[in-house]
Amino acid sequence: MTESKSSKKKPKLLWVIGGIIVIVVLIALGIGFVITQAAPAQPFPFPHNVHATNGIACLYCHPGANRNNYAGLPTRQKCVGCHSNIPANTPALKDLQQYTRDHPEFVWVPVAYLPDFVHFNHQPHLNAGMACENCHGDVAKMGTAKPQNYIDMGYCLSCHKHQRPDQFTTLSDCSTCHK
Ligand code: HEC
Ligand code: HEC
Ligand code: HEC
Ligand code: HEC
Ligand code: HEC
Repeated sequence: MTESKSSKKKPKLLWVIGGIIVIVVLIALGIGFVITQAAPAQPFPFPHNVHATNGIACLYCHPGANRNNYAGLPTRQKCVGCHSNIPANTPALKDLQQYTRDHPEFVWVPVAYLPDFVHFNHQPHLNAGMACENCHGDVAKMGTAKPQNYIDMGYCLSCHKHQRPDQFTTLSDCSTCHK
């Protein structure tokens, strides 16, 4: 009697275990999705919004965007250049002062990089009158920069296709973006 009872229970138990595994996998996928949409933890929480409110231009800290292939991220020296003249009279500014004392370099975690096999240069895009926000979202309202997961080949091509017809051949040619 007892034996047949336990053998009847087993399939039920398997269903329960199976169900739990499915739920765990779904939760993990959900968390993965949220993490890839969120800004990664930076060594120091740099607030873009505060600097934009204070009228500091994007190109002041990312001057490479209209000069080199890479926009570049500011060094510790660039932060100190301003902040040595700003009194540390808020908790966030005190944290910055302490962080600056403890760290000879600021090493930021990159969020907006394409794979190496893609060739991208800011300059022609800025020359064509595009604003940072067109591709990076409203950074002026962000704390640390958020990843732009929508930037893929389709995104690039969908704009390139709408350029002047005489440019279309070049701008959609594989070798323009893949060397
Ligand atoms: C061109 C000048 C300038 C540069 C460069 C600069 N800041 Fe600032 N920063 C400011 C000003 C102005 C404020 C506002 C100060 C205030 O409200 O009293 C500020 C505020 C801050 C705050 C305080 C935010 C808050 O919530 O109170 C932090 C943190 C900060 N900056 C970090 C940095 C870091 C890190 C760098 C380097 C990547 C940097 N800043 C570079 C001008 C600058
Ligand atoms: C046409 C779209 C586009 C526009 C407009 C644009 N960016 Fe970018 N940006 C990108 C792409 C794509 C990358 C990744 C480049 C790579 O990995 O080679 C990038 C990378 C960056 C990076 C990090 C990597 C690096 O180059 O150092 C910074 C910082 C940056 N952009 C700032 C800016 C600023 C500031 C502006 C406005 C002056 C701007 N971008 C305008 C598309 C754009
Ligand atoms: C005072 C300096 C400063 C100013 C002004 C500034 N940034 Fe940044 N930016 C940073 C720092 C520091 C980081 C690295 C931390 C982070 O990712 O938020 C960064 C990161 C970024 C990134 C991500 C690059 C990568 O791949 O890591 C983008 C995109 C960007 N900034 C765009 C902008 C735009 C657009 C503006 C103007 C609205 C702007 N920034 C103004 C300091 C600045
Ligand atoms: C919002 C529109 C837009 C988006 C988005 C865009 N581009 Fe462009 N791109 C242009 C325009 C306009 C030009 C041509 C500028 C000119 O030379 O007249 C161009 C030119 C180029 C060139 C040729 C530069 C040269 O040296 O002649 C490359 C390479 C390029 N884009 C790569 C990319 C990549 C990679 C992406 C996606 C990460 C991208 N673009 C996204 C509008 C865009
Ligand atoms: C305007 C720029 C641009 C042009 C033109 C372009 N690509 Fe891409 N391509 C990209 C970008 C950006 C990525 C990276 C996508 C990502 O990171 O998700 C990419 C990724 C790829 C990949 C990797 C697949 C993947 O999903 O990661 C292949 C393969 C590829 N491209 C082939 C081509 C071929 C073949 C052509 C010509 C028919 C072409 N590309 C034209 C921008 C371009």
